[in-house]
Amino acid sequence: MENIPGHVGIIMDGNGRWAESRGKSRSYGHKKGSDNVDRIVTHAFGAGVKTLSLFAFSSENWARPKEEVDELMRLLERYFKKFIGKVLKNGVKLSVMGDISVLSDSLKEVIERGMSDSAGMTSHVLNIGVNYGGRQEIVRAVNKLVSEGREITEKGISENLYTAEFGEPDLIIRTGGEYRLSNFMLYQAAYSELYFTDVLWPDFNEEQFDMALLSYAGRKRRFGKI
Ligand code: FPP
Repeated sequence: MENIPGHVGIIMDGNGRWAESRGKSRSYGHKKGSDNVDRIVTHAFGAGVKTLSLFAFSSENWARPKEEVDELMRLLERYFKKFIGKVLKNGVKLSVMGDISVLSDSLKEVIERGMSDSAGMTSHVLNIGVNYGGRQEIVRAVNKLVSEGREITEKGISENLYTAEFGEPDLIIRTGGEYRLSNFMLYQAAYSELYFTDVLWPDFNEEQFDMALLSYAGRKRRFGKI
């Protein structure tokens, strides 16, 4: 396929509905959703995508029932532990965007280890949003500029986002049938192409990912020009 997006963002929505429609708990849906992550990561990197940004836990998700939040934290810890074991083999650099300071010590530790162990990797970037919010990210960047006494400019803000090193998504996919960004990469999404599908995240497979790539391949990006 030609015209593969270098950076793809994914809002992995629909785990809860997937599980509820099967009479299962929402946590079960998150487990299934979490099992689907590596499948799509492997496929996307294999297809030529260089950077993947995944929305795993938003700064607003704390308002969910404790049991659900605990399960998501457990799944994240399990995922990062597994990631660390594979760093040297797959050459993927891990980045985590969001305020991780409030996470449990054990989750913080695996995140920090995953990022430091993979810091020298160059083949791909896997960027995961944990306790992440796009507005908070912009405010944080502006505050950094202010504290350094620097002028607030677009370039200055971009340089202080979590994504400074690898930039903006060319394509953002949202599964689960909602047509909104829900505070995901708001600053970076200015010129991203958007792709929405009704497919719920646990059912989102390689074929569906390719449909998003195909849709992207046919788009004309003008960045405000003609
Ligand atoms: C949205 O589904 C999904 C989330 C809030 C969490 C996404 C998390 C995962 C896919 C698993 C953990 C991630 C990693 C990287 C291991 P929802 O609960 O809002 O579903 P609903 O809209 O059907 O209620």
